[in-house]
Amino acid sequence: MILSFLLFILIVIIMEFNITNVRRIFLDFFKNNGHKIFSCGSLISSENTSLLFTNAGMNQFKDYYLGYKKSNFSRIVTSQHCLRVGGKHNDFEKIGYTNFHNTFFEMLGNFSFDDYFKKEAIFYAWELLTGTNNFNLPKDRLLVTVHYQDYESYKIWSEDICIKSDRIIVIGNNENNGCFSDNFWQMDNIGPCGPCTEIFYDNSTNPSDKITDSNIIYSERFIEIWNIVFIQFNRDINGSLIPLKIPLVDTGMGLERIVSVLQNVYSVYEIDLFNNMIVFIADLIKCNDLINTSFRVISDHIRSCIFIIQDGILPSNEKHGYILRKLIRRSIIHGYMLGVRHSFLYKLVNYFVHCLKLNNYLIKLDVNSISSIIKSEEDHFSRTLQKGFLLLNKKLINLKTNVLDGKTLFELYDTYGFPIYLTKEICLKNNILINFVEYEDCMSKQRKRSRMHNDDTVKLKFSDLILSNYSSVFNGYVNFEITSKILLILKSNKMVKDIFIGQMSVIVLDETSFFFESSGQISDIGILKNDNGIFRVDKVKKYGNIIFHIGVLISGHLSLFDVVCSSIDRIHRKCIEINHSSTHLLHSALRTVLGEHVVQKGSFINHKYFRFDFFHKKSLTTDELSLVENIVNNYIRDNVSISTTYMNLNDIKLNNIIFLFNEKYQQEFMRVVKIGDISSEVCLGTHVKRTGDIGLLKLISDKGVSLGVRRIESITGRYAISYIQSLHSKINLFSKLLNSSFDNLENNLISTIKNLNLLKKFSEKSKKDDLDKNVIFLKKNIEVFKGVNFLFNYLLNLDINNLYKIMCVLIKTLNKIIIFLFTNIKDDYFFIFYISENLDYLFDKKDLINFLSDKVNCKIYFNSNIGNFRIKNNYFTDEFVNEIKHWIFDKL
Ligand code: SER
Repeated sequence: MILSFLLFILIVIIMEFNITNVRRIFLDFFKNNGHKIFSCGSLISSENTSLLFTNAGMNQFKDYYLGYKKSNFSRIVTSQHCLRVGGKHNDFEKIGYTNFHNTFFEMLGNFSFDDYFKKEAIFYAWELLTGTNNFNLPKDRLLVTVHYQDYESYKIWSEDICIKSDRIIVIGNNENNGCFSDNFWQMDNIGPCGPCTEIFYDNSTNPSDKITDSNIIYSERFIEIWNIVFIQFNRDINGSLIPLKIPLVDTGMGLERIVSVLQNVYSVYEIDLFNNMIVFIADLIKCNDLINTSFRVISDHIRSCIFIIQDGILPSNEKHGYILRKLIRRSIIHGYMLGVRHSFLYKLVNYFVHCLKLNNYLIKLDVNSISSIIKSEEDHFSRTLQKGFLLLNKKLINLKTNVLDGKTLFELYDTYGFPIYLTKEICLKNNILINFVEYEDCMSKQRKRSRMHNDDTVKLKFSDLILSNYSSVFNGYVNFEITSKILLILKSNKMVKDIFIGQMSVIVLDETSFFFESSGQISDIGILKNDNGIFRVDKVKKYGNIIFHIGVLISGHLSLFDVVCSSIDRIHRKCIEINHSSTHLLHSALRTVLGEHVVQKGSFINHKYFRFDFFHKKSLTTDELSLVENIVNNYIRDNVSISTTYMNLNDIKLNNIIFLFNEKYQQEFMRVVKIGDISSEVCLGTHVKRTGDIGLLKLISDKGVSLGVRRIESITGRYAISYIQSLHSKINLFSKLLNSSFDNLENNLISTIKNLNLLKKFSEKSKKDDLDKNVIFLKKNIEVFKGVNFLFNYLLNLDINNLYKIMCVLIKTLNKIIIFLFTNIKDDYFFIFYISENLDYLFDKKDLINFLSDKVNCKIYFNSNIGNFRIKNNYFTDEFVNEIKHWIFDKL
């Protein structure tokens, strides 16, 4: 009875404080206190930071904090998806080993821009955590930390909130990182930052325990639940703190953590969401060891993967794709540690998505697409892992000392993708040491090799100093020539004042008409010129807020602060525009023909053609391709007008406008490109005015690029016309060659191919007959000596392939054999030899190889039973052949 009552209470608690409810209570609390609820920003970080993924709720407001932009709302509240793997705030290594870290998590945050400051921020947090109508946490279980220079916050906690002084911990600088403190928060190495005050929950069964040492708060007894940051500075590249003019607040509370406190479980892995996922994994892989940390790792990582994949990322070797790959691979390894020997992660997706949806997470991408992406990585890496394990086992068995060489460690890592820590762990278990010096040596050689490959002369390297001190404006949607000032010239990555004819360099202008590489579109080309000189722009890139024109000075000279005319190549731009607008039409046509699951995965657009990648599993049938092509060409003939407007995220979502979340849009108002009723997409790219400007679209190919993703390549305008013309003239040529009329071409071609196939069969048959004859002839030449079949034969003018084929037939049909076959190739002699495994007792094959090496001046290739070598004519004598024979006969 009592047990059922307790269970009932537990269920009520869980239902009340599940993820959905806690998220809603938080947002409503701040909404009722005058905050505007903002949508969650993209998980993929914006271009103007060095972060790959959003790591905190404040990321989407970075420009407001730095004063680059002004917010329309002074109080904002969000629930933001974050990922802390790599870069600043990297929790990857901690996952599984602590109770409170996730790679992906949701951060609840309230923000104030030039509105309330320390007092209100602290009061709001306290009210929400302890208010009886809110989370109602016992006050005596809470503890706070403050930055040692932030006396104001200390006073608020002790005098206004009345927390006892032994529960307010003052945090100084880190001992091993002199100038940084755990209570000084910054998003990245540069950018907005400031002191913070943190609220911890004490889960000790005896909370009256004294806190004698401030380090204790970083033990798992205390759960950090809320971080309130007072953004007061911008840290510049030199590390200096530049005070900001207005008071700003940025707070963050981990949703999963606070839920774990409210559900009284004190581990994010024990809240209902994770508990269900972990039990599901255990069931699937038939392992009951639920406390094994590997379950935590797998559940955490696969949840993260689902969110990363749905933002359009695929596993790869760089940037976001690399992080995704790392998460999947680590999960596979942890599966391996739990005894799993087959692909299983992909089977988790369906259930995980179901759990996430129950908790009100928006999962747009269909489950099958997500699981097939995970499966293909899983299948691939499992094979790699097996190979790695085999290699390592072999090495360990043959080890003569207890030290594994560094080359093997490197090879396992470099060739087999076998994580270093895994090799270390296995060696440790076997009491084997590793030669890390040798490993480092291999690693540095590898780095040197890859540096040599990456030697790109126009590759931009510039300091963050440049990034934070300059900015340029793109005004080239309608202005193709703009008068601008040169703000910066870089030559060989160094700032210079002048450049002269022939010098490659990079120029930054205050304002430009040049579109930079983005939205899948290549940049404009053109010139920057004044009366003194002309600079040819070959490429334009944007980093942070700066637009870099990369090119060469083709006449005269130009100097810093010169006024120049930035003028783009109109024809080049027009061709790109035609292709860019075509991608939008194609996107819409594909969705009409194949279904709404078709979502753009990526694109590449230049002046000659475009590629369009999208989620779809099967290759398109010829009918589907024709239909798509016809629909797009109908749109083109309808000559629909194309317009652009700016909209905020809420309106974008309300109007179902296509918005790729992996695109780097962080502005409050985003540019929407609208093509009549055909398509509306958020897009920064340049477009034609009317669809008729495209003229014609011709699809060239449809192929798969990875599991579940297809790529269509297409050409437009005059390129499409000349493509069709060249097809036509080729067909005319074929008709002439086949002496056929245009109408009969197909039939003629089919019968010609049939005849060719017949001829081919005939020739193969006659080759096979030759081979059989050779084998019969050779078998007659076999000498049997002490039960061993011995064959030593020369075959005139045979190619190596056929020599091998003959050898294979002989090996298959004979037992206990030693065969040497050789033939002449040009002026050389090529030998191939074979010694049956069951003759190992006669002699050590290595001795034979040594003997042969001494005789011939060439490399002997040998692999367990079969070997070959090629010698120069002058080394080949009858005596040499006899010597080999004798050497072998002596051993029989
Ligand atoms: N930006 C702070 C953090 O991430 C507070 O939101 O902890």
